[in-house]
Amino acid sequence: MIETTDISKLSYTPYSKRIEYCYVEGESGLIYPGVRVENISFPLSISAVQAAICSCLANKDHPKVLYQTGYRSELQQHWIDEFELDLHERVPKLENVYNPVHAIPDDPVHTLNELCKQAITIHSDFPVSALLYTTSGCIHGVNVEVEAWSLGLCAERVALSRAYAAGITSFEKMHVAAPKSEFCSPCGACRQVLNELMPKTMVHLHHNNYSVTKHFTEHLLPHGFTSGTLKNR
Ligand code: THU
Repeated sequence: MIETTDISKLSYTPYSKRIEYCYVEGESGLIYPGVRVENISFPLSISAVQAAICSCLANKDHPKVLYQTGYRSELQQHWIDEFELDLHERVPKLENVYNPVHAIPDDPVHTLNELCKQAITIHSDFPVSALLYTTSGCIHGVNVEVEAWSLGLCAERVALSRAYAAGITSFEKMHVAAPKSEFCSPCGACRQVLNELMPKTMVHLHHNNYSVTKHFTEHLLPHGFTSGTLKNR
């Protein structure tokens, strides 16, 4: 894992080549890093500020201050207005940085169910949790809904964007649970993002009769539009 204190080289921007990173300070005093994570399907790209705010909210914290220098996405002002953030154009003191990496759980089903309590579902009342297994440990994600419906992030994408902001880009598997649905099924947007960032990785879907189905990401999105497609230009 790369030191979370230097996140300036961690964004994933193969398409725009624009490095974007920021830190959000929560009410708790914790600092949440966020980096830009692009997708070949451009609306699915995650901006640095979206990643940092969703990471903060997914930890049941509330964003207060945004620290951002350099490139900032066109939606930065939206987030500043929505959360009435103070903006500082510098890097904050990095003594109290949120660490998204947890121990590998003994009982993933129990952890997934407990994690769902952290979901922010102001519109849907539909909690989802994700456990992203990496060589450094397990990264937690829950879905986060904000006032603007289209700017929330699914549990899978919260976990993946936290991983990138921590310098972790190599993944072993992901577990996902959506206890209010009979059959847990990642949305199309997440399938696209998973396919870009972890195409050869297994996703374990936990259904509400306690059965689990295991899928390779690339099988969840047959004939997907991937970055490989562009290499043939
Ligand atoms: N959701 C996820 O977190 N992951 C998925 O793969 C499916 C959908 C969330 C997004 C939103 O908060 C709620 O479920 C309803 O769409």
